[in-house]
Amino acid sequence: MEPLPAQSGRESPFAADVRAGLTARRKTLPPKYFYDELGSQLFEAICALPEYYLTRCETEILSQHAPAIASYLPRPTSIVELGSGSSVKTRYLLEALLARQETLLYQPIDISESMLSQSTRHLLLDYPNLRIQAQAGDYTHGLGAVKRAQDGALLVLFLGSNIGNYDPHEAQRLLTTLQRSLRPGDLLLLGADLKKAPALLEAAYDDALGVTAAFNRNLLVRINRELRADFDLKKFAHRAHYNVEDGRVEMYLVSQEVQEVHLRSLNISVQFQRGETIHTENSWKFDLEQLQMLAAQSGFAAVHSWLDQGKHFSCNLWQVATARHLPV
Ligand SMILES: C[S@@+](CC[C@H](N)C(=O)[O-])C[C@H]1O[C@@H](n2cnc3c(N)ncnc32)[C@H](O)[C@@H]1O
Repeated sequence: MEPLPAQSGRESPFAADVRAGLTARRKTLPPKYFYDELGSQLFEAICALPEYYLTRCETEILSQHAPAIASYLPRPTSIVELGSGSSVKTRYLLEALLARQETLLYQPIDISESMLSQSTRHLLLDYPNLRIQAQAGDYTHGLGAVKRAQDGALLVLFLGSNIGNYDPHEAQRLLTTLQRSLRPGDLLLLGADLKKAPALLEAAYDDALGVTAAFNRNLLVRINRELRADFDLKKFAHRAHYNVEDGRVEMYLVSQEVQEVHLRSLNISVQFQRGETIHTENSWKFDLEQLQMLAAQSGFAAVHSWLDQGKHFSCNLWQVATARHLPV
């Protein structure tokens, strides 16, 4: 690997993260960059795959329990959604809230501008009493621009196993920052995937059609396009592996031969050994005790957890702890 002068100041966050990730001893790329326009469409295709139980199970929970979830919410409540994607599952909650209050303010935040504008257009057509204030950007930068309707409560949605992309310390930090930007009584609905048989988990991230492999390799397509690189996609294989000890599915791109890749916009060349990996995603899996602990450690009181019939996935309602809930 050729050491290169950092061009910080002038580099986009994408360029800086790719530079840092590909020049590290163990190569990595952050999963948030999967979601360019094609990546977002590929993710939607993944959600429809037979192996990807996550979306089906979370849909089952929300379709059956949205009114029960809404019954825990004060009136009026506004919804904020982190990493909203297509917002398809969110519709169950929007409908449950619109059945209890005349209008609803929905504030989706997503790094994928294309998916955000497509989903908000469809929602506005389908729900005349919905107001939408969408933000295209990184939700880890906080909830600074979020509004509340008539001084009501906020329900923050963090669905689709998004939290699983963060290691336990990052997850706690992210949720604590979120908690601090909320008021007592505000709520969080967290969609978290549960630990299960490795074969089921690995199939969900390595489907027979190869859609997840395409989703993973599309990261290289994006780097080729945006950073003028020359990754040869045929020379990188997709691998998904469940690390039982850590409780996470790990996704990699594996170099099939010794090769050198050039990233002209970054002015770097990157060498790969045969079998060398780029770690592109972790998807942490939980058990209910870990989720309870995560709630307490990040300043929330766990209110209720709903599971699908097969007990594969969980939706967890947490409330910003008041002094009464906080551990002494
Ligand atoms: C796993 S998908 C889930 C989408 C949707 N919530 C669902 O459950 O189907 C992750 C979504 O979060 C968005 N995303 C990922 N990282 C993000 C970040 N750091 N900031 C904002 N959006 C992010 C992606 O664009 C994508 O829409």
